[in-house]
Amino acid sequence: MEALAVKPVIKVAALCGSLRKGSFNRGLLRSAIQLSKESVNGMEIEYIDISPLPMLNTDLEVNGTFPPVVEAFRQKILQADSVLFASPEYNFSVTGPLKNAIDWASRPPNCWADKAAAIVSAGGSFGGGRAQYHLRQIGVYLDLHFINKPEFYLNAFAPPAKFDSDGNLIDPPSKERLKEVLLSLLAFTLRLKEVLISEDFFGVTCARRHRLSTDISQGESSSFSLWENGGCSMAHRFCEDRNSLADNRFTGPRTTRPCSK
Ligand SMILES: Cc1cc2nc3c(=O)[nH]c(=O)nc-3n(C[C@H](O)[C@H](O)[C@H](O)COP(=O)(O)O)c2cc1C
Repeated sequence: MEALAVKPVIKVAALCGSLRKGSFNRGLLRSAIQLSKESVNGMEIEYIDISPLPMLNTDLEVNGTFPPVVEAFRQKILQADSVLFASPEYNFSVTGPLKNAIDWASRPPNCWADKAAAIVSAGGSFGGGRAQYHLRQIGVYLDLHFINKPEFYLNAFAPPAKFDSDGNLIDPPSKERLKEVLLSLLAFTLRLKEVLISEDFFGVTCARRHRLSTDISQGESSSFSLWENGGCSMAHRFCEDRNSLADNRFTGPRTTRPCSK
């Protein structure tokens, strides 16, 4: 019997930075969920409500445990392969509720590490674009890897109408652009997973480079062997970094096996 090809399905956690009932940004997420069901194969988007989270207070952490609602949120992030943020900008930056959620899931062990992410936004003149850059900056510290393109920010107030009175996205060109973001997030998530799944990726690279450089240096000395030796020490550095990352509680659970080379 022929084996059936199993199509990978990536899990995406969708977070909205606005708590407003008729939020345009939550409307973007509803549209993304709809698009993923209709026309983006291999992606499952789950909306994660951040409104029940208490304001961050480390006094609420007892012996490394979190309040149940925070723990449930953290588990949702951990289980996701990637994250889709939709958020307006508040005073040129990320909103308070979104920053609060990000901070809760950043508490050790960091739940965001090694996840792919995308951000879309709707709002006033710049369509929330300025918050996007602040969010990307936060992602640097959290090891959250944002897709660079396409960018999606939408002026929600410029005619023609982009949203109906319930905050649903009704603008076909915007839906098309949103779909491009999803496709880009899907492709990037799969690429990132491919690298992470090969547990001793750096170990293999390191060992292979060692073999190559030894073989070559036993023969004639050449600029190629010097290059390989340089590459080898670089691969070593990666190994060391990866091992210390794997040992570091901040980075959270990984499938990393220490490199033996
Ligand atoms: C506290 C606050 C600050 C805001 N600051 C900005 C801002 O800096 N730039 C901007 O374009 N819009 C700003 N806005 C407007 C929101 O971005 C806009 O109302 C947006 O539609 C809200 O998103 P939502 O529809 O998802 O709730 C601000 C709104 C609030 C409540």
